[in-house]
Amino acid sequence: MGNFVHTLLVLLFFLSSALKVYGSTICTSQGVTTCQQCLSVHPSCAWCSQEEFGKGGSSLSRCDLKQNLLNGGCSKAALEFPSSTLTVLEDAPLSDKALGTAETVTQIKPQKIRMTLRPGDTKRFTVSVKQVEDYPVDLYYLMDLSFSMKDDLDRLYSLGNELAVAMGRTTSNLRMGFGAFVDKTTSPYMYMYPPEAVTNPCYGEKCQPQFGFKNVLSLTDKVARFTEEVGKQQVSRNRDAPEGGLDAVIQAVVCKEKIGWRPDASHLLVFTTDAKTHIALDGRIAGIVQPNDGQCYLDNNNLYNKSTVLDYPSLALLTEKMSENNINLIFAVTSYVVPLYKGYSQLIPGTTVGTLSGDSGNVIQLIEEAYAKIRSKVELETLGVPEELNLSFNATCLNGEVIRGLKSCTGLKIGDTVSFSVEAQLRSCPKEKSRTFTIKPLGFKDSLEVTVDFACSCNCEAQANSPLCSNGNGTYECGVCQCHQGRLGPRCECSVEDYSPSDDVNCIPKPGSPICNGRGDCLCGQCSCHANEFGQVWGKYCECDDFNCLRFKGALCSDNGKCSCGFCQCDAGWKGENCNCTTRTDTCMSSIGLLCSGRGNCECGVCQCTQPGAYGATCQKCPTCPDSCTIKKKCVECQHFKRGQYTEDNSCNRICKDEIKLPTLETELSFSHCPFHVSGSSECPKGPDILVVLLSVAGAILLLGLIGLLIWKLLITIHDRREFTKFEEERAKAKWDTANNPLYKGATSTFTNVAYKGN
Ligand SMILES: *[C@@H]1O[C@H](CO)[C@@H](O)[C@H](O)[C@H]1NC(C)=O
Ligand SMILES: *[C@@H]1O[C@H](CO)[C@@H](O)[C@H](O)[C@H]1NC(C)=O
Ligand SMILES: *[C@@H]1O[C@H](CO)[C@@H](O)[C@H](O)[C@H]1NC(C)=O
Ligand SMILES: *[C@@H]1O[C@H](CO)[C@@H](O)[C@H](O)[C@H]1NC(C)=O
Ligand SMILES: *[C@@H]1O[C@H](CO)[C@@H](O)[C@H](O)[C@H]1NC(C)=O
Repeated sequence: MGNFVHTLLVLLFFLSSALKVYGSTICTSQGVTTCQQCLSVHPSCAWCSQEEFGKGGSSLSRCDLKQNLLNGGCSKAALEFPSSTLTVLEDAPLSDKALGTAETVTQIKPQKIRMTLRPGDTKRFTVSVKQVEDYPVDLYYLMDLSFSMKDDLDRLYSLGNELAVAMGRTTSNLRMGFGAFVDKTTSPYMYMYPPEAVTNPCYGEKCQPQFGFKNVLSLTDKVARFTEEVGKQQVSRNRDAPEGGLDAVIQAVVCKEKIGWRPDASHLLVFTTDAKTHIALDGRIAGIVQPNDGQCYLDNNNLYNKSTVLDYPSLALLTEKMSENNINLIFAVTSYVVPLYKGYSQLIPGTTVGTLSGDSGNVIQLIEEAYAKIRSKVELETLGVPEELNLSFNATCLNGEVIRGLKSCTGLKIGDTVSFSVEAQLRSCPKEKSRTFTIKPLGFKDSLEVTVDFACSCNCEAQANSPLCSNGNGTYECGVCQCHQGRLGPRCECSVEDYSPSDDVNCIPKPGSPICNGRGDCLCGQCSCHANEFGQVWGKYCECDDFNCLRFKGALCSDNGKCSCGFCQCDAGWKGENCNCTTRTDTCMSSIGLLCSGRGNCECGVCQCTQPGAYGATCQKCPTCPDSCTIKKKCVECQHFKRGQYTEDNSCNRICKDEIKLPTLETELSFSHCPFHVSGSSECPKGPDILVVLLSVAGAILLLGLIGLLIWKLLITIHDRREFTKFEEERAKAKWDTANNPLYKGATSTFTNVAYKGN
């Protein structure tokens, strides 16, 4: 019976501590007061709008994890818990081949998605893109007809058929068209003098007057007409080197009907020139200051009739209009200007540059290559994404490898399918309730339409001047009153003017403390906490905030946890007061499979070596320690025979991680390098006697010393003898003349005059 009571008490204790942990969640810790705020705290937070929820003294928060609210007695109907969802609305399969009518071709899948996103939440979907075989192609040839292009024109006349045949190899559904340009028909771009230069600028030779842009032949499947129309063309002549090609490009791009671009075809716009081009703002030298508006101005004669009114288009305008109309621009330009157009190409996505030979002879090959290049690359572009939404992409190209952060694939062949994983994250709440944006491969007509509903607001209706909030002193919304100015209290029952000092008692946490801990005002017996530049202050007595927690290296809760009312709540995998201590131990594992090589403790993922002399990241280095074999041996000793050093100091379990099994083939192998043998018997081979070893070592040292001394003595003696004999010999030789004082010197000295020559 006593046992039973004990168990019950332990159980109760666990339950209550579990509830305590439950009591403070990411949702409750933020001092949230409205449903809308609650939804944006975290995607897992729900709001209970039930009127009587949390009454009766308990301090349940209306904003909490869904399960906690249900446990707390909130009815399901009163729960505000929108969740993020994703529905694929249109998901037609990808087409294999474009069969005659292009209307049914699908190159992107899915085609329509609708999702609901809560702030902070993410949703992921996959987009597949296929390069359909035999896709219809519209090819519009835009040619510079300034004087230097005369030979190119002759050549193009003969190339028309070849071009059709070459393109026919990639598509059975080809349309070709032709347009020409020179430059703006005004001074200083044009010859104005002599007056006849206006009608024939080439003097002696025959040529046509200068023009801006002319659509000569709209797209047609009759290739013969292409050859015919090109044959009728004549070059013109302008004054300055740069031409007005960009005017022509923008007209060719935006005049959809006049040019005849089909909606369901690849649109190739081939731009050939041998000169530089005028760009936006160049119009000023002719006094043209009105910016290009990107509209179509082809008149009934198929001539650009705003040539002298509008400035050249900017690259940004070109980019926008080309993307809008799915035009792939190919710059086929002579080598002299290739670097210039390469530069433009980098600024206008979806363009390619090819080097045109002097007479445009290689233009077919160039178009074929450019078309192959266009079809070999799939690049996604996004249009109209709200800035609160973060989109990230991973591409899965041909070899199935996932490339992070990439939204394009290259090196594709026609018929290949690639896919992209897209993740949408809503960072904050936009003003509108929903938004539609598109994801489409550059140069494709097909697109994926994504509609996002922002789950930022609650469904519970707001009731202005509700009787539930003190007879209309507030708005009742989602179970709480939003009081009017000057009213306070959960039901706006109190007015700021009815202040009575006796209420202050309710605002003092404990006798002697300041009112509301000095961080708020006591209004009608309730603390109204001051806002703070660091964050919100909350709690019954303003005792809580989310910025006063332990920091480590300046980071609140080491960035590994949430600060809640003064305490760090560590994320999974972290512990410690400031969450700076990892619970991982794999970093402590040494190569021999023991935590810290058995020579220390793993603390916060780092080995603290306890064995004297041990060091290294896993205490693996230790010249004075027993080697790993010895540790294993000791482990075997303590695990199997319950004796030895580790049994005595109780460290067996700590040091010896895995139980070492008694002889099996496996252990034989893994310990084969160790000079001991694990066997069933507990006998250990006897080591050598320590005393004998010590004595022999000491004896050997002494002996060596003595021998050294003797040799030294011998050498010194021999040396001394030699010196003495030498001295004796010297003395015998020195026989001084005893009559002479050895110190006497003669009184005369002889000097030689160095200047004296002898005569
Ligand atoms: C230019 O062409 C447009 C049609 O595209 C026409 O409405 C306009 O009147 C023309 N302007 C001139 C000056 O011919
Ligand atoms: C959203 O994208 C911006 C830049 O594109 C990036 O700096 C930011 O970190 C992203 N936010 C999230 C939450 O991924
Ligand atoms: C892209 O891959 C990385 C790592 O493989 C992954 O963390 C990320 O969530 C992926 N993003 C998308 C959009 O799939
Ligand atoms: C606010 O409440 C007081 C007392 O409860 C009441 O007298 C007053 O009429 C209310 N104000 C409004 C605007 O309804
Ligand atoms: C964690 O923080 C405590 C207190 O600042 C510090 O003493 C300790 O060294 C830190 N631990 C790690 C692993 O950084």
